[in-house]
Amino acid sequence: MTEPQIQLRALRKIYPAKGADVVALDGIDLDVPRGAIHGIVGRSGAGKSTLIRCLTLLERPTSGTVTIDGQELSGLPEAKLRSARRRIGMVFQHVNLLDSRTIAGNVAYPLEIAGVPRAQRASRVAELLELVGLADRADAYPAELSGGQMQRVGIARALATEPAVLLCDEPTSALDSATTRQILGLIRDLRDRLGITVLIITHEMAVVREICDSVTLLGHGKVVEHGALGDVVGKYGSHLARELIPVPDLPLGVERSLVEVAYSTDDVATHVVLAAVAALGTDAEIAAGTIETLAGRRVGRLQIDLPDDRVEEALSRLHSAGVHAEVTR
Ligand SMILES: Nc1ncnc2c1ncn2[C@@H]1O[C@H](COP(=O)(O)OP(=O)(O)O)[C@@H](O)[C@H]1O
Ligand SMILES: [Mg+2]
Repeated sequence: MTEPQIQLRALRKIYPAKGADVVALDGIDLDVPRGAIHGIVGRSGAGKSTLIRCLTLLERPTSGTVTIDGQELSGLPEAKLRSARRRIGMVFQHVNLLDSRTIAGNVAYPLEIAGVPRAQRASRVAELLELVGLADRADAYPAELSGGQMQRVGIARALATEPAVLLCDEPTSALDSATTRQILGLIRDLRDRLGITVLIITHEMAVVREICDSVTLLGHGKVVEHGALGDVVGKYGSHLARELIPVPDLPLGVERSLVEVAYSTDDVATHVVLAAVAALGTDAEIAAGTIETLAGRRVGRLQIDLPDDRVEEALSRLHSAGVHAEVTR
């Protein structure tokens, strides 16, 4: 097995504060293989941005290690760190382009800082703009671009120094859904063509569904859940699966309960699930549900609305049909 390209071990970050210290990262272990697109999700305050800042050592971890492309960054002195950071590209929600420079000038900027000679710079910039589909906008100024084009420039700029790893912090959160899909398509395409490893922080499950190979759920600075997308969606009782395959939250009548059924057609066929529900009779009703293909797996979630006094029977019928079922309300 090849060494993971991003490896975190027991990563901790504590922000000292007057009252109680804030433990923003509480022992994170993470392995992202070369060429993978890995999503980091979690509520606001979970530690996602701190994680990304610690990955580049822009924020010094309190303890633990960060290893990128075989190099342990957490042990490097500041001068070495500066060149190591060129192996890491960063893409943010707000692109922050230099308004007085053209698109080409903006993409050239990191190359100037890295001391790349002018002639080489020009050809590299042309190559990068081609890569992100903006070859015809080289001489435009940021004010002339749409949000999606702006993010393409941000991505070209991040790739300028040929990084091995692309870190994206909410790259599509300022974009509409059609533009989001285009940008995610571009990121996937770049991964396919360049073999770059991508870590993408997002609060949007749609982003995870669309491009991630694997995902980590952070909560209060800890890893709550992680895995390959196909494994996560087929895992019953998983928080991530719940959010990746949402069903509507419906009103519930008096003396009625909701039993939630989750299954993957790898384990049990839909008609078997439906037969088990039908056997409960007419006072049990499928109130909401979804059946879809996600990460190459066919998965379903159904909510069965039924009288309180039928819950035990429902659970036992469903369990004997080989379906995961639990009372949710
Ligand atoms: N520079 C800072 N100083 C003190 N506390 C911070 C700092 N940055 C983040 N925090 C705290 O660390 C926790 C994680 O924050 P953050 O990494 O921004 O989460 P997320 O990006 O998931 O919303 C929060 O409780 C936040 O208030
Ligand atoms: Mg954040």
